[in-house]
Amino acid sequence: MSAEHKAAHDVVELITGGWRAQAVYTAVRMGLPDHIEAGRTTDAELADAAGVAEEGVHRLMRLLVAMGVFDGDGRAGYRNTDVSAALLDRPESLRDMCLLYGEEFYTAWGHAYEAISTVSAGFEVAYGQPLYAYLGQDADTSDRFQRAMRAGNLFFDQVPWVFDFAGKKLVDLGGGNGHLLATILAAVPTATGTLLDREHVAPIAMQNLAATVGLDRVEVVGGDMFTTVPPGGDVYVLCRVLAGWEDDAVVGLFENCRRAMAGPQSRLLILERVVTDDGSTVLPALWDLHLLMTNGGRHRTVERFTAMLNRAGLDVERVAELPMETTALIAAPRH
Ligand SMILES: C[S@@+](CC[C@H](N)C(=O)[O-])C[C@H]1O[C@@H](n2cnc3c(N)ncnc32)[C@H](O)[C@@H]1O
Repeated sequence: MSAEHKAAHDVVELITGGWRAQAVYTAVRMGLPDHIEAGRTTDAELADAAGVAEEGVHRLMRLLVAMGVFDGDGRAGYRNTDVSAALLDRPESLRDMCLLYGEEFYTAWGHAYEAISTVSAGFEVAYGQPLYAYLGQDADTSDRFQRAMRAGNLFFDQVPWVFDFAGKKLVDLGGGNGHLLATILAAVPTATGTLLDREHVAPIAMQNLAATVGLDRVEVVGGDMFTTVPPGGDVYVLCRVLAGWEDDAVVGLFENCRRAMAGPQSRLLILERVVTDDGSTVLPALWDLHLLMTNGGRHRTVERFTAMLNRAGLDVERVAELPMETTALIAAPRH
């Protein structure tokens, strides 16, 4: 292939990316991975089970087989691959993420030009209100959002491998539903934990923690982390809470953590996706723009985090990689 033909081919591959995503979304919305799992595998059986046109199923599956999402054919029957199996309707599935990305977030990305050129949330341009206000109005979408976010928690069980929590008192700020704290406490029986989140989230965390690790080693506090940080912690954890806030607010939060620390041996543990400016990775840069589309937030480089921590009197001691393009930054108070 000549360089010119290759370039044209690459352009077509790039500009049809949205179509591919919509094809996968449509198959999931029709429940095709689940129907195949249940033994309804031909075009006719799938169309019947999904209540849709057989010709549509055939044309959609032709593409998805070519893309490696499914195997087989419409007469003898299709088979799930590892990819379509990850989209089955069951716990730990990426199904809800796929549905959300194919609907609300696809619509938000449809306003990418306005969002990027004015650095404002594409979601708000599309729906006339912020994502969280929208989610608050519709319980089904809100539940799906929570389930979709859980698919991003796959790195949680690796966190005790990058930081030694043994015998430590950890404080999880903006700890959400308590899933991370429960995972750490389950893996480290000598650790204790305090979770702080907004007043309306704290009872949900309490419920989840009670149902998983129990409340013996746990305290749950409702409040605003920008004004109150529970004192005396050995490790302050900030997991996926910084992207929506401006640098000055985050530096203020880092300062609050440093002042609240039990002593010089205490640490701050930041768990975030980070971007690089050297063009070496695609997914983190995509997640960064995705944050802009959804809530106007941003991901930062390790260098930017380092400078912000330094402003707050903390030094980065160590950086460790976790699954799902997540990075752990461990910072120590400056003596
Ligand atoms: C994206 S979620 C992350 C939750 C959890 N850390 C995780 O990784 O699953 C952000 C969390 O920050 C909490 N949050 C936002 N502003 C807060 C504030 N001012 N004080 C305490 N929590 C806050 C939200 O309620 C939400 O639970």
